[in-house]
Amino acid sequence: MLTDRYGRKINYLRLAVIDRCNLRCTYCMPGEGLTWLNKKELLNDEEIIRLAGILVELGIRKIRITGGEPFVRKDILHLLKELSGIPGLDELALTTNGILTAPFIPKLKEIGIKSVNLSLDTLDEYRFHQITRRKGLNQVLETLQSLQEHQIKVKINAVVMDGINIDDIFPLVRLTEQKDIDVRFIEEMPFNGTNEPHHSLKWDYLQILNHIKTEFPSISKIADPLHATAYSYQIPGFVGKVGIIAAYTRSFCGSCNRLRITPTGDLRTCLYDNRGTNLKEAIRGNMPVTEIKKLIVEAVQQKAENGWDAERGSAGNKSFHESMANIGG
Ligand code: GTP
Ligand code: 5AD
Ligand code: SF4
Repeated sequence: MLTDRYGRKINYLRLAVIDRCNLRCTYCMPGEGLTWLNKKELLNDEEIIRLAGILVELGIRKIRITGGEPFVRKDILHLLKELSGIPGLDELALTTNGILTAPFIPKLKEIGIKSVNLSLDTLDEYRFHQITRRKGLNQVLETLQSLQEHQIKVKINAVVMDGINIDDIFPLVRLTEQKDIDVRFIEEMPFNGTNEPHHSLKWDYLQILNHIKTEFPSISKIADPLHATAYSYQIPGFVGKVGIIAAYTRSFCGSCNRLRITPTGDLRTCLYDNRGTNLKEAIRGNMPVTEIKKLIVEAVQQKAENGWDAERGSAGNKSFHESMANIGG
């Protein structure tokens, strides 16, 4: 079991398998002038599988595959299949933008993936293009439908942006009337790969909740699962659930159970810590497994007690914010 010096048990790994994406969401990356990592800089399949195996031996029980967009990575299915077979791993989950996902869904089901989080900020085609700078709403909706048909648990992630997708909040909530899905509204974080000064966050958790209440006054708080990022709600009579992720205004630090691995194989023990431990070098240099384990255990010992405090203290002054696609969300 991996435990940090504040007694937090670390059993959840967010594994970003690629920096590239086929969308250009404004809250995540600039629209142009991007430079992608070349293939050699990324961990290859074998390296990812070995690293994941070591982390599971150390106590990781859930792995969420993120990116970039996981389905842009070549032969992602092979990687997922191998990861799903790691002895001791309880759950392999995915976060995807849903553009290329639909054709893979029967196979995802076959290899035992039980839950997929789908980024979808709007149900309107014009706004979809405005937010993602690309077309593809219909593909995402097909993915949503197919996931449901295959009885894979779906959580929709919608980042709330002032003046952009506020009109989408009610229609997205209404999806939970008939569909057994979670629709989660997320406060926008400053991880957008630009030098833009940080926005004033108008749509914080309370503002989002109060807005939903104006249309759905019966919305009620329900229990939050352990370690959940979202505060959970339900509208009586609706089958699905509504969540609000206070990603920017709430500290998740006290009960944090996560590690992150970036596409280049850096181990990050905190969303706000951009130093990392270079595990690619270790695994490529054939460092003995016991030494790699030592490196990981040491990094976990250095996990910040409250990275959120430090970030919030400096957010206004930071000139550059890393893209979410480099951190794995
Ligand atoms: P579940 O396994 O379904 O709980 O997934 P998740 O909510 O952890 O993952 P997902 O990839 O769907 O991310 C949803 C949102 O939560 C994204 O905006 C993430 O950036 C944000 N998020 C994930 N982990 C953290 C964290 O440790 N701190 C903060 N502030 N936000 C996080
Ligand atoms: N703020 C909040 N959430 C973000 N995501 C990407 N960038 C941001 C940001 N700046 C979300 C996406 C995706 C998840 C992994 O992270 O919506 O669903
Ligand atoms: Fe791609 Fe996700 Fe970033 Fe959008 S938020 S650009 S879908 S990685």
